[in-house]
Amino acid sequence: MPIKTSHKIVVVGAGLMGTGIAHAFAASGFPTALVDMNADALEKSRLNITNILESGVQRGKIAEAESSAAKKRLVCSTELEKSATGAHLLIETVSENLDLKQRIIKQAEPLLAPDAIIATNTSALSVTEIATACKSPERLIGMHFFNPVHKMKLVEIVLGLATDEMTLDNTRAYSDAIGKTSIVVSESPGLTTSRMSAMMGNEAMYMLQEGIASAEDIDTALRMGFNHPMGPLELGDLTGWDTRLSVLHYLHKTLGEKFRPCPLIIKMVAAGRFGRKVGHGVYKYEDGKKVQNSGLKASNI
Ligand SMILES: NC(=O)c1ccc[n+]([C@@H]2O[C@H](COP(=O)([O-])OP(=O)(O)OC[C@H]3O[C@@H](n4cnc5c(N)ncnc54)[C@H](O)[C@@H]3O)[C@@H](O)[C@H]2O)c1
Repeated sequence: MPIKTSHKIVVVGAGLMGTGIAHAFAASGFPTALVDMNADALEKSRLNITNILESGVQRGKIAEAESSAAKKRLVCSTELEKSATGAHLLIETVSENLDLKQRIIKQAEPLLAPDAIIATNTSALSVTEIATACKSPERLIGMHFFNPVHKMKLVEIVLGLATDEMTLDNTRAYSDAIGKTSIVVSESPGLTTSRMSAMMGNEAMYMLQEGIASAEDIDTALRMGFNHPMGPLELGDLTGWDTRLSVLHYLHKTLGEKFRPCPLIIKMVAAGRFGRKVGHGVYKYEDGKKVQNSGLKASNI
C-alpha cells in the first residue's frame, strides 16, 4: 500500500511529543487527528501547534495559506474511537507505561484501515512486548521522535521481533513525507542515540573526575574538535543528571560493565545538582543562562 497525503493519521497523547508529531503530519499535508483524554492538554497542544505554524509564517519558513491549511487539517478530540476509525497510521505517544500503551492499541486496532501501521514513540519500553497487544503484531513498529519535534530531523525506526517489511517500508515513507531522516535499529537498550549519548556523558564525567581537563575544556574539545553543537557535560546538564543516571543504571544492567555510572554522576545526583532545570549541574545557571565557571574543584571531586 503506497502512502498518500490523503491518508488519515491519528496521534494519541497530546503531550510534549504528541504535539510536535501532530504538527509535523498536519504541516506536511496529512489529515491529522490528535487525541488525548485530557481536554486541557488538547487545548494547550492546539495552541502550541498554532504558535509553531504562526512563527513559521513570521520567519518566512511557510506561507500564510499553508499555515491556515495545516490548522484546518488538524482535529483535536477526546474520542479515540471516532478518531481512529479508518486511520492509516496510528502513533501512540501517551505516557511511558506498558499497560496504558497496550490498552490504547487494543482499543484502536480493530477500527483502523486494513494494513494500517501502529507506531509507538516509546523511549525505552520493548516494541516486541507492546506488540503482544496486537492482533497483527507484524504491523507494529517503533517511531522514536526527538524533542522538539519541529526542529529535530531524526526518527529512529525500531523493529520488534514480528515487524514485517511492508510496515518498515511504509514507516520510512511516512518519515520521508514529513521531512525527517530515518534510521533503522533493532530493538535494544538505549537504541543508538541514548546509548551513544549516555556513553559520551559518562566518559566525560570520568575525565573530569580524573582531573584530565576542566569541564569547559572537555566541552570545548567536542564542540571545536568534532563540531558537536554542545559538549557532553553541557548536554548532560540539559538532559538532567538524574535522568542520565537512571539510563546508565539500565544500560549497565542490560549491556554490561562499560556503562557503569561514573561515581561523580552519582555524587552530583546525591547533591541535587541535576543540571539546568535546577540551576546547577556541572555548570551554574542564572535566569536559564550558563555561568561560565563550572565551580567544580578537584578537591571536591
Ligand atoms: N519527552 C521526550 O523528550 C521524549 C522523547 C522521545 C520519546 N518520548 C516518549 O514519548 C511518550 C510521551 O512522552 P511526552 O514527553 O510527550 O509525555 P507527556 O507527559 O508530555 O504526554 C503524555 C500525554 O498522554 C496523555 N494520556 C495519558 N493517558 C492517556 C489515555 N488513556 N488516552 C489518551 N491520552 C492519554 C496525557 O494526558 C498526556 O497529555 C513517552 O512514551 C515517552 O517515553 C519522550
